[in-house]
Amino acid sequence: MAAFNRSLTLVTTLLLLLQLCAIVSCSTSNSITRNHTIRDGDSVISEDEIFELGFFSPKDSTLRYVGIWYKNIEPRTIVWVANREKPLLDNNGALKIADDGNLVVANGQNDTIWSTNVPPKLNNTVALLLKTGDLVLSSDSDRSNLYWESFNNPTDTFLPGMRVRVNPSRGENRAFIPWKSENDPSPGRYSLGIDPIGALEIVIWEGETRKWRSGPWDSVIFTGIPDMFRVTNYIYGFKLSSPPERDGSVYFTYVPSDSSDLLRFKVRFDGVVEQFRWNNSAKNWTLLQLKPGTTCEIYNRCGNYSVCDDSKDFSSGKCSCIDKFEPVNRTQWDNGDFSRGCQRRVPLNCGQSMLASQEDGFMVLRGMKLPDFGSVVSLENSEACKDVCVRNCSCNAYAFVRGIGCMTWNQDLIDMERFEHGGESINVRLAESELGGGKEKWKLWIIVFSVIGVFLLGSCIWILWKFKKRVKAFLWKKKKLSVFDMRENRGYSVKSSSSPIQDLVGDQVDTTDLPIFSFNSVALATGDFAEENKLGQGGFGTVYKAWHLWSQGKTKELIDPTVKDTRDINEAIRCIHVGMLCTQDSVFYRPNMASVLLMLESQTSHLPRPRQPTFHSFLNSGEIVDGQDVASVNDITLTTVVGR
Ligand SMILES: *[C@@H]1O[C@H](CO)[C@@H](O)[C@H](O)[C@H]1NC(C)=O
Ligand SMILES: *[C@@H]1O[C@H](CO)[C@@H](O)[C@H](O)[C@H]1NC(C)=O
Ligand SMILES: *[C@@H]1O[C@H](CO)[C@@H](O)[C@H](O)[C@H]1NC(C)=O
Ligand SMILES: *[C@@H]1O[C@H](CO)[C@@H](O)[C@H](O)[C@H]1NC(C)=O
Ligand SMILES: *[C@@H]1O[C@H](CO)[C@@H](O)[C@H](O)[C@H]1NC(C)=O
Ligand SMILES: *[C@@H]1O[C@H](CO)[C@@H](O)[C@H](O)[C@H]1NC(C)=O
Ligand SMILES: *[C@@H]1O[C@H](CO)[C@@H](O)[C@H](O)[C@H]1NC(C)=O
Ligand SMILES: *[C@@H]1O[C@H](CO)[C@@H](O)[C@H](O)[C@H]1NC(C)=O
Repeated sequence: MAAFNRSLTLVTTLLLLLQLCAIVSCSTSNSITRNHTIRDGDSVISEDEIFELGFFSPKDSTLRYVGIWYKNIEPRTIVWVANREKPLLDNNGALKIADDGNLVVANGQNDTIWSTNVPPKLNNTVALLLKTGDLVLSSDSDRSNLYWESFNNPTDTFLPGMRVRVNPSRGENRAFIPWKSENDPSPGRYSLGIDPIGALEIVIWEGETRKWRSGPWDSVIFTGIPDMFRVTNYIYGFKLSSPPERDGSVYFTYVPSDSSDLLRFKVRFDGVVEQFRWNNSAKNWTLLQLKPGTTCEIYNRCGNYSVCDDSKDFSSGKCSCIDKFEPVNRTQWDNGDFSRGCQRRVPLNCGQSMLASQEDGFMVLRGMKLPDFGSVVSLENSEACKDVCVRNCSCNAYAFVRGIGCMTWNQDLIDMERFEHGGESINVRLAESELGGGKEKWKLWIIVFSVIGVFLLGSCIWILWKFKKRVKAFLWKKKKLSVFDMRENRGYSVKSSSSPIQDLVGDQVDTTDLPIFSFNSVALATGDFAEENKLGQGGFGTVYKAWHLWSQGKTKELIDPTVKDTRDINEAIRCIHVGMLCTQDSVFYRPNMASVLLMLESQTSHLPRPRQPTFHSFLNSGEIVDGQDVASVNDITLTTVVGR
């Protein structure tokens, strides 16, 4: 009986509560209208019941704030706060549409302590909490006409669907300002926004001091966060609208891969930005990433002209001076105080010397987080970019970055990081003496040798051409030499030699057989690209290699990398092709010198596909070394001496 009575009391109480709710309007609506005010204790719930708008007190506090949180997530996760600067002191506050049409928070004395502050002439407004968590103030008659959005006025949290506008050129560059402390929603010392200087990038400030930077936005990723590529769904990240709008505005945007995922970015009270995804089975937020997350991500951790590297250990970033730079104070540096950074070992010549040979040069650093304060210069290519840097003595480095273009640095290089994967290349200016002979000279030598090589080849071909008839006559005589004579002359010395090819070639060159010479000329044409200055002897090895690669369609691999970069790659391939044709096994297929000349000169004429070269089978067979199949040795000799 007692139990029944208790149940009855409970039911009656519940019914009473429900009635009370109906009278006082316990809101489950998703809107606030002129005659529907939200009082402390009521709330507005978004259509799909994900988000909730109402009054709350932070932990260990009695102050009341109006905010938005996830309806079904505990502990309460606040994503937006209205009156963060002016809390309500008691539970008598209200959220309502004021006479001027604005959405306001009023205290018990009817003073407005917070307002959407939209300029006057609002007519018939309604406030709605949308599915996305966006609180909007719109015209009641036309709800797509938005006067105000909480998404445009964020606090510390970025939600999917937000489009936060900043305008660095107008000084409106701070988009998110986190709480003062874990339990105090008032604006703290930190902020997150867009760098007003130089390339577009995200910066976290403490007051005016930089704490972290994303690296320049290249319109796909932030170049200083190379693992944006490695996150399976790269979309889990801030994006910036690019290019900026005409008035200089930039938008932070965020498109979730799966809209059913609850995702959020939060700038923590201590200036760390965290990204979470709700794990519904674990009833817990999974931390996806945080910035700065490693020692090296701490702004300017290593000082001037120094690179931070934490590929070995995330917790202890290793600082090292850029090559050719040294610590400003070695004692401090060795004691782990990197604050003074590094300096040049040798000052730049720029502006001090008129000698061209004493000009400064550049050293490339790869896989880097680009230093801070780079300026973007609109130039088409890397060479023009370099020129701009060379011409200005205050330019310390340049980089040509995909998606950004030319960047130059006119101050000390700071906040650099070396990445294991990704990152950009930057060219650091150095005194010429520091470049030690450098690549440029090496390239020059290659060019000189190539020119000489081509000249020699040309001369040889010309001579051959000129004396073609005489050569033919001479060769006819030569052909009368018997196989056995040849054999005796050679005396199988190959068998005991360390390198059969060298022996053979050596002999042949000594015999001054002109066809052999012409063969070598072709070998020069092909081999010169691959093995510098190894005339003659290098040719065979190359042809053998060229056949192997050729037959696999990898002709390009044969070409020296210094040539690969130029537009002459087709020419080189053509030379190799001709070389292959000249070394074909059967003399029947080999072109005569006239054809060779034509082939080398013409860029367009079709070249027949070469057959396997003699020396390939020769090398593979090992017959010479065995000394058994003698005839094949002489076949080769014979075929080479046959003039055409
Ligand atoms: C709400 O206010 C409007 C006028 O602003 C009025 O027409 C309407 O009847 C009111 N609704 C209720 C439920 O009081
Ligand atoms: C508060 O102000 C509104 C007008 O903005 C007025 O209608 C209402 O009576 C006031 N309430 C109190 C308690 O002063
Ligand atoms: C408010 O809107 C109504 C119709 O929606 C219009 O008739 C009226 O003139 C508007 N008032 C003001 C002040 O704009
Ligand atoms: C969610 O949490 C559970 C339990 O901790 C874990 O096993 C699961 O992998 C998590 N799911 C995701 C998507 O992180
Ligand atoms: C997830 O929950 C566990 C305990 O339930 C807690 O220790 C952990 O900190 C939570 N993780 C996050 C990211 O909140
Ligand atoms: C380097 O730093 C140490 C320790 O701060 C200091 O004692 C020393 O004088 C400094 N040396 C120079 C050359 O500045
Ligand atoms: C970097 O070097 C400049 C002088 O070139 C100096 O003024 C500046 O303080 C240095 N920065 C740091 C962080 O030491
Ligand atoms: C060099 O660059 C600096 C910084 O951008 C600029 O102020 C200066 O005018 C430039 N000097 C010349 C000669 O272009």
